[in-house]
Amino acid sequence: MLDQNYLLKLTEEYGTPLYVYDGDEVVRRYQDLYRFITWPKLRIHYAMKANYNPGILRLLEQAGAGIDAVSPGDVIMALQAGFDKERIIYTANNMTDAEVAQVRDLGVLMNIDSISRLSKFGRAYPGSKVCLRFNPDVCDGDNVHTMTGGDLTKFGLLMESVEEVKVIVDKYNLSVVGLHEHTGSGLQRTESVYQSMKNLMAIASRDNFPDLCFLDFGGGFKVPYCANENRVDYAAMGAEITRLFEAYCHDYGSELEMYFEPGKYIVAEAGHLLTTVNTLKENRGRRIAGCDSGFPQLIRPVLYDAYHQIVNLSNPNGNPAAYDVCGNICETGDRFAEQRELPEIREGDVLSIENAGAYCYSMGGVYNLRPMPAEVVICQGRVNSARRRLSTEELINMIIGETTCE
Ligand SMILES: Cc1ncc(COP(=O)(O)O)c(C=O)c1O
Repeated sequence: MLDQNYLLKLTEEYGTPLYVYDGDEVVRRYQDLYRFITWPKLRIHYAMKANYNPGILRLLEQAGAGIDAVSPGDVIMALQAGFDKERIIYTANNMTDAEVAQVRDLGVLMNIDSISRLSKFGRAYPGSKVCLRFNPDVCDGDNVHTMTGGDLTKFGLLMESVEEVKVIVDKYNLSVVGLHEHTGSGLQRTESVYQSMKNLMAIASRDNFPDLCFLDFGGGFKVPYCANENRVDYAAMGAEITRLFEAYCHDYGSELEMYFEPGKYIVAEAGHLLTTVNTLKENRGRRIAGCDSGFPQLIRPVLYDAYHQIVNLSNPNGNPAAYDVCGNICETGDRFAEQRELPEIREGDVLSIENAGAYCYSMGGVYNLRPMPAEVVICQGRVNSARRRLSTEELINMIIGETTCE
C-alpha cells in the first residue's frame, strides 16, 4: 500500500489530477491467483480493458501473464508491450469483417460469440482454430450494466444452440480449441462462479467438442470498494474451482488448461486518483467541495452508482463533516461522492479517490476538452513509469489536426 505522504509528494512533482498505481500490488495480485487456484495448467489472461497503462502492461508481461483483448487497439497495444500472440485471446463482440481479418492476420486466437459471426468466420477461414463464447445463464455482477450472463445480455452463444454451432463447425471444418464464458464484473456470490463453470462444463463434452485445449471462465472476481465490505475468501474459492475442474477433466479424458481473465482483481485496489479541491461553497446547508478532476476522468460513480472511498490526504485529522465531492464538468451529476463524511476539507487540500485502478482511466474521455490526468506507476518506492498529461494546446491541436474542412 502506498504511503499517504508519498502520494502527496508525487502531486508536488506531477501536479493534479494524477493517477498513481502501486505496481508491486498489481504483480502481487496476479501472483495471488496462482496460489488460490492450484490447477497446474492455469493461465491468467489480464483483462486489459480494466487498465491499459503501458507501465502496468509491462509489469504483467514480465510476470508471465496473458491478455484478454477486446479490440484491435487492445491487441496492438498488447503486442507492443511484449506479449506474444499465443498469450492473447480476442474476445470482442459485434466484430466487423475488417476487424476479424486484422486480428487474424496478427495471429491471435478469436473468441466468437454469435452464430452469425461463426458462419462468416467459417466461410472466410475454413479449417481454423477458434474459441466459442457461451452465455453461462447466470446473472451476477456489481451493477446491472456489468452482468453479462442471462436473458438481458448481448453477449455469448446460447447454451441451447450447441447443435446449431456444431453444424457450422463441421461444415467449415473448424477446430474448437476453447470454450469461454464470462458471468459479469464484481461477482457478488462465489456460487455464481461455480454455477457458470458447471453450465459451461456441461456442454464441453468430448462428444460436442473433441478438440478442446482449454476452458476459459472469464473474470469478475470482486474486491471490496467500501470500508465495511468483506473480502471474498479466494483461497476457499480457488480450492472449489480446482476441484470442479479436476472432476470435469477426468470426465473429458484429458487435463485441459484452465483460463481466467480478471481485470478488477488485479488492478482496482492498486490505483488512486489524486485531485485538488479548488473551490468550497454551500448550497443551503450542503457543503460542496469542487475538485480539479471530473467524471470523464473517473466515471464509475456516475455510470454505475459506484462507491469509491475518498481520503483527505492533506488534512487527515480535520473535524469530520458531510460533503458533496464534485468535479469541474458542466453537468449536475458530476459528483464523486454525495454527502460523504470526510475530515474537514480546505481549499488546496488533496483528495485521494481510492480503488481507482480498474475501469477508471481506461473508461475516461476528454468531455469539456479537459485532457486526461498524468499516470505514474510506483515499484519498490520509486516511479517505475510515468505517462504525462497532454497539454490543453496538444489536445486541441490533435482534434483540429484530425479535421478536414471543404
Ligand atoms: C469478457 C470479459 N472478460 C473479463 C472481464 C474482466 O472483468 P473483471 O474486471 O471484473 O475481472 C470482462 C469485463 O467486463 C469481460 O467482459
